[in-house]
Amino acid sequence: MAESPRSDVGSPAAARLLAALGGVQDPELRRPITELGMVGSVSVDDDGAARVAILLTISGCPLRGTIVDDVTAAATAVEGVASVAVDVGVMTPEQRSELKAGLKKRTAPFTEPGSLTRIVAVASGKGGVGKSSLTVNLACAMAADGLRVGIIDADVHGFSVPGLMGITQAPTRVDELILPPVAHGVKVISIGMFVDGNQPVVWRGPMLHRALEQFLTDVHFGDLDVLLLDLPPGTGDIAISVSQLLPGSGLLVVTTPQSAAAEVAERAGAVAKQTGQEVLGVVENMSWMDLPDGGRMEPFGSGGGELLAARLSKTLGVDVGLLGRIPLDPRLREGGDSGRPVVLAAPESAVSLEIRRIARTLSRRPRGLAGRSLGVTPA
Ligand SMILES: Nc1ncnc2c1ncn2[C@@H]1O[C@H](COP(=O)(O)OP(=O)(O)OP(=O)(O)O)[C@@H](O)[C@H]1O
Ligand SMILES: [Mg+2]
Repeated sequence: MAESPRSDVGSPAAARLLAALGGVQDPELRRPITELGMVGSVSVDDDGAARVAILLTISGCPLRGTIVDDVTAAATAVEGVASVAVDVGVMTPEQRSELKAGLKKRTAPFTEPGSLTRIVAVASGKGGVGKSSLTVNLACAMAADGLRVGIIDADVHGFSVPGLMGITQAPTRVDELILPPVAHGVKVISIGMFVDGNQPVVWRGPMLHRALEQFLTDVHFGDLDVLLLDLPPGTGDIAISVSQLLPGSGLLVVTTPQSAAAEVAERAGAVAKQTGQEVLGVVENMSWMDLPDGGRMEPFGSGGGELLAARLSKTLGVDVGLLGRIPLDPRLREGGDSGRPVVLAAPESAVSLEIRRIARTLSRRPRGLAGRSLGVTPA
C-alpha cells in the first residue's frame, strides 16, 4: 500500500516538490491531485533524483498520459530536482471509496433547493432550429468567461452534443461514479457516450426519465455555475422529466424568424405554465444572412422572435424578453462539424458576438425563485 505523502517528506526539496504537485489538477475532477489522494509518495535524494508515486482512480485511466506529463512538468520545475521518475499505480478500493466520499461531500447536487447552479434548458417547438448549436456555443462562451459549465445532452434519441464539442473520449467510471469528459473547458455528458457507434437509442418515457436521473445523480460535475441542458424538440417526455427532476431549471426557447415556427415554439414555452418553470427568454436563430455585396437576406422571414416573446409574456403573465437574434453564418455549422464551436473558432464574427452577449445576459441574470424553497419559515 502507498504511504501517505506527508510521511515521506523528509527534505526541503521533497516539501517543495509536494507543494508543486498541489498545482497539478486531475483533468476530469478538476481538483489538485494532492487533495484527491492521488499522490502516493514523493522523495528527492541527495543527487536531486525525484520519485513521485501517482495513484490513478482506475487502471487504464484514459488520461494517464496527461497526468504523468503534468506531474513530470511540475516536478522538473522544482528547485533541487535534477531528474524525475513517476511511478503509476492504482488506488485500492478503500482509497477509491475515500475519494468518492470526499467528492460527494464537496458538491451540492443541482437538485437541492439551495443549489447555486443556474440551470438552463434549451427548448424549441420544431426541430432543427439550432438548439444544440446554441447550447454548445453558450457553454463555450461562458467557460471562456471563467464560469464552471456543464452540459447534459438531454436529447437522448437525437444526441449531437459530443460531435459538436469534438468529444470522442468516453466518460471515466470510478465504480458507480461517472466522470464527464471535458472539452473546451466544459464538462459534457451524453447518452451518445454510452452507445456503440451510431446505434439508435430505442427507449420509451420511463427509460428516458431514468437515464436523465442517472445523469443527475451518478455523473460527477462538481460545483457548477451553469448547467445547460440540450432538450429534444417539442413538449415530450424529456421536457416533463427535466421539469420534475430539476424544478429550478429555466427554459430558453429557440425559434426561427418564421411566424409559423414561433407559433409552434409557443407550445414549448407554455409548458412552463404547467411545470412552474421560469422562461428565461427567447432566442431567434437564423435571423438573417449577410451577403457578400453588403446586403442582407432573410430566408426565414422576420419577426418570429418578437412574436414569440410577446405571446409567451401574455400566456405566462410575466415579461419574457427576446434575448438575441443570431444571424446565419456557415462558420457556425463548420464549427459544429469540426468540434470547435464558432464562438471559439471565430470569436469576433457577428454570430459569435451575439451568442457571447446572450451568454452574459443569462449568466448575469438574477436567479429566479420559481420552484425553489426560500429556506425561511414564517414566524
Ligand atoms: N445561425 C446558424 N447559421 C448557420 N447554420 C446554423 C445556424 N444555426 C444552426 N445551424 C445549422 O442548422 C442545423 C440544425 O442545427 P442544430 O442541430 O443545432 O438544431 P437543433 O434544434 O438542435 O436540431 P434538433 O431538433 O434536430 O436537435 C445544423 O446543421 C447547424 O449547423
Ligand atoms: Mg439538437
